[in-house]
Order: sequence, then C-alpha cells, then structure tokens
Amino acid sequence: MAAPVDLALDGPWRPLQIAPSVLPVDFSRLGEEVAALEAAGVDRIQWDVMDGRFVPNLTFGPAVIASARRHTTLPFEAHLMVLDPDAMAAEYVEAGCSRLIVHAESTTHLHRTLARVADLGATAGVAINPATPVAAVAHVLDLVDLVLVMTVNPGFGGQAYLATMEPKVRQVRTLLDVAGLSATVDVEVDGGIGPETVAGAAAAGANVLVAGSALFRDPTGLAHAVADLRERAAAALGGPSPDV
Ligand code: DX5
Repeated sequence: MAAPVDLALDGPWRPLQIAPSVLPVDFSRLGEEVAALEAAGVDRIQWDVMDGRFVPNLTFGPAVIASARRHTTLPFEAHLMVLDPDAMAAEYVEAGCSRLIVHAESTTHLHRTLARVADLGATAGVAINPATPVAAVAHVLDLVDLVLVMTVNPGFGGQAYLATMEPKVRQVRTLLDVAGLSATVDVEVDGGIGPETVAGAAAAGANVLVAGSALFRDPTGLAHAVADLRERAAAALGGPSPDV
C-alpha cells in the first residue's frame, strides 16, 4: 500500500489526554501513587506490561494492576509489550483494564487478537515500534479506538524522544482522517514525552500523550508537570499558550 499522502491536518481531533506511565512510581506505595496521579489531573493510567521477551525488561502482571484498581477511578490501559498477548488478555481485563494495547509485532494474527479484545469487553489499541511502518495497522483501524506510535524503542523509561517518528504520527492521523475515524480513534505517543518534545508530537497529530519520567522529575510536582504538558500540547494545536 502506498504511503498515504499527508493531508492538511485540522486538529484537534479528539480530546487531549495525559496518560502517565507508572514505571517510575514507588511500587511499595502503588495505591498512594495512582491516587496521587489522579489528584494531579491525569486522564487515564497506562500500565507498561513487559515480559522480558518482547522487550528486554520485566515489569508486572495482572495481580499488580488489580491491586491498584480500588485506589483510583481513572480508566486503566495495559500496554502489552509481550509475546503472545492473547495468552493473558482476559486476565488484564479482569484486573480492571478497559483497554488493551497490542503491539502489531507481537502476534501472528493481529486482526484476530484485536477482535478478541472486544469479545473480552475491552477496547483495543494497536501499537507500532519505531521501525514498523504505518501500513502494519492500515487494515485493523476498524477494530481499535487507539493507535500508539512508539517514540522510543520499548522496554525502558527515560529514553530520548525519537523526533523522526513525527512524520509517522502525521501519517497515522492522515490515515484516520481519510478513513473518517479521526473523531473516534485516538493517536497516542509513548516515550521521551516531556516539556521539550510534547509540542512536536501534538502538532504531528497525537492527542494522547504518555509520559513517565517527565512527570516525576518536575521539581514543581506532578500537578504542574501534567498541566504543563497539557498546555504545551494545546498551544501546539493553536490553543492558549502555556503561562509556564
Ligand atoms: C517504553 C515505555 C516508556 C514509558 C514512558 O517501553 O513504554 O515509554 O511508558 O517512559 P518515559 O516517559 O520515561 O520516556
């Protein structure tokens, strides 16, 4: 399939959302940490599930997510950086995740896996790593409510943002525009999102911004970090400039 021609993007397409990665939290105080994220004004919480095989890191399973469920009313999404995402998909839904994000590279039958997520009562997102072309998701857009363009190679927080992914974000947004899906499908970016990089990602067409280290290293605190990212993203879309 030929790369879609970039059309003029007229965002904002979907509400801007800040989704923290919980990788940097103190897991001995997980309940308090997710409550603090809610108090700081985030819109949802992303759980970076890593199996040590799809990515060279190992994090947590459904039991850890389930233990945090009662501490916040925010929606949970599981970013499944795992081989064979079908194997435990049901458990992540039972743990309280309303969305499962499946990597296009992690399963042989992506269309079937995404359709199965809906059968489990959750919504599906599809993620693509930096080297994976947008064409990999072109035929499953009807099965998802989110496309995640990784702006780092997955596995660790605190990595440098790959600005070379911005044309790819724009390609996904254009693909959604052409398919008439921009009002219903989120475009998410994840990796190296912070005050210096969020504007480029938002201007390219991302409306859901996942951040981990940038939120927790803000000396003014979580609430300021969340508000600052949101304001910078909005300004990139022509909204009010941040007064920070
Ligand atoms: C990569 C992880 C990270 C994390 C965010 O596999 O998915 O991208 O969510 O990390 P930061 O915001 O610290 O780059």
